[in-house]
Amino acid sequence: MRNYSEFLAEILISEDELQKRIQQIGQQISADYCDSQSLLLICILRGGVMFLTDLMRQISVPHAIEFMAVSSYGMGARETTGQIRISHDLNTDIHERDVILVEDIIDSGHTLNSVLDMLSTRKPKSLEVCTLLDKAERREVPVPVKYVGFSIPNKFVFGYGLDLDDYYRNLPFIGVVDESKYQTE
Ligand code: IMP
Ligand code: MG
Repeated sequence: MRNYSEFLAEILISEDELQKRIQQIGQQISADYCDSQSLLLICILRGGVMFLTDLMRQISVPHAIEFMAVSSYGMGARETTGQIRISHDLNTDIHERDVILVEDIIDSGHTLNSVLDMLSTRKPKSLEVCTLLDKAERREVPVPVKYVGFSIPNKFVFGYGLDLDDYYRNLPFIGVVDESKYQTE
């Protein structure tokens, strides 16, 4: 695999900026859910994992975590089709719980919209969305988002959980791809 520096156009959000903003969101969630008896953070695999693990360390109220996997992007594809498949469902009953869905990025909104529809049928006490990145310009279906880390322009980004064909999720910053230097196989 090539070194990311060969196709990094720019660092959009530095590690320091990410961590500062995540601390703020964690404090906000801690205040908003200080009376909750049943807070559950649901992370959508795999992109949201880095964000979840950093965010939960900034949340001071007791909470549990869960994971689910949905697929929307095929290998190499850059657009969602609106077709979502749940490849790993929750192992926890969310009925009457305060749920926050933790996402890496909202693009067209199709993924989140489908997940929210599905989860709301299970009658949680509350259901909110926390996303690290929001590409609002690309939205095709409206989704209610309570916590947004950063609004970003319509550029393909990678790092900090987000992948390029499954690699580079480990980078501690959010980078923009130079598409003239990175071609999907
Ligand atoms: P949506 O259904 O169009 O909102 O797509 C959301 C999913 O697409 C995210 O959870 C990401 O996995 C993926 N995605 C969207 N934009 C990007 C990007 O710029 N880089 C990496 N993954 C992305
Ligand atoms: Mg992805």
